[in-house]
Amino acid sequence: MTEEKKPGSIRIAGARVIDPSAGVDETADLLLQNGMIRGIVPPGSGEYTGSETTVIDGTGLAAAPGLIDVHSHFRDPGLTYKEDIVTGAAAAAAGGYTTVVCMANTRPPVDSPEVCADLVRRMRDLPIHVRTMANVTVGMQGKELTDMAALKAAGAAGFTDDGVPILDERLLMQAFRRAKELDLPVSLHEEDPAFIRMAGVNAGETAERLGLGGACALAENVLTARDGLLARETGCRVDIQHVSSAVTVRLIRFFKDLGADLWAEVTPQHLSLTEEAVPRRGAMAKVNPPLRTEADRQALIEGLLDGTIDMIATDHAPHAAYEKARGILTAPSGMIGLETALALCITNLVRTGRMTLPEVLGKLSAAPASFLKISDHAGSLAPGIPADVVLFDPAEAWTVEASDFHSKSSNSPFLGETLTGRVRMTIAGGRIVYSRAMEGRITPAG
Ligand code: DOR
Ligand code: ZN
Repeated sequence: MTEEKKPGSIRIAGARVIDPSAGVDETADLLLQNGMIRGIVPPGSGEYTGSETTVIDGTGLAAAPGLIDVHSHFRDPGLTYKEDIVTGAAAAAAGGYTTVVCMANTRPPVDSPEVCADLVRRMRDLPIHVRTMANVTVGMQGKELTDMAALKAAGAAGFTDDGVPILDERLLMQAFRRAKELDLPVSLHEEDPAFIRMAGVNAGETAERLGLGGACALAENVLTARDGLLARETGCRVDIQHVSSAVTVRLIRFFKDLGADLWAEVTPQHLSLTEEAVPRRGAMAKVNPPLRTEADRQALIEGLLDGTIDMIATDHAPHAAYEKARGILTAPSGMIGLETALALCITNLVRTGRMTLPEVLGKLSAAPASFLKISDHAGSLAPGIPADVVLFDPAEAWTVEASDFHSKSSNSPFLGETLTGRVRMTIAGGRIVYSRAMEGRITPAG
């Protein structure tokens, strides 16, 4: 094997440097050295201005910690016609992500140390940091717990049966106890099938008009209430995944007040769209849990603002074109998200005046780092931590096109839409892993 060259020094000059973890938001130069953050200095100042430094003109761009996604599906092993770890990592880098945690509903699922260790080994060679969760239950059948200690030893970042709710509350409580001992989180897909007539579409006005059964918010509320209680009882770090309804937000607030170590994520799609997207976009807007009402969407934003919802996570869920073409009734649920997440947040939260750019970036980097307990080496621009950086133009308008995606799949309900805010460069461990439209802005070292 050839020895890989060490990353040299990089100066990102004159950018709007934003580090939500430290309250930094100023025009400055960001210095990277040997793959690490060296510091934030006044424009043109500081060390390493010499010819050994690559200078990147950051004028008009924002530089922030590389984004961290706690919830993506890279479909590897077994479903690699939809995505694999290489294309998933490429999509992530193009979206400004430098750390991604993959869900475990693969084929086979990540329910054994062997599958987990193989995945972890292959993920090491990727240009960004990719980790995997392991399953809570064997075969995601909800009947028997996996060997959680062995899965941790094999490198699992946490536990989830995402895609499938865990219905046996005694078993789940046991899982919480073990995860707590192992100091790893459990992430939960909260939808009780008892209240679902058809998954992927909200049981409301739109579903009725279209003659579809639908999935109601109660399905999410019931399991969130149960699991808020179990989280409080056990002290386990629990993440309520892709929160979709206003009542769930209130429940999470309540259990946080009671002292549960409860965390919550919301997706850019649930922050951007409502059930009204279903008649317009058909199966592309089918997702579990479903897009709901405008009142729900507003409650999700309120939840983000008051800290009830900690993180923005993509739930990047690639599916093949022929699968989505089956139509709303039988198409699989889910949509890709890594390459549109930042733009959707800027377009629908920042440009509408609901959140500031640093607030949004905190939900996309510092908060997920805290949840994963990796803040000592990710999610900030603190000197000495790995140089994971996203450089983006917060004002660039662009139209979402399938041909631009790095993902293997293009199942996005945002195709054809014009969004604002676009990634220009992603740096992971001091190496440029993605770059576009940077001509004339890069002066190489030497
Ligand atoms: O819509 C969804 N699709 N929700 C999930 O929780 C799983 C995901 C998938 O794996 O396709
Ligand atoms: Zn899910």
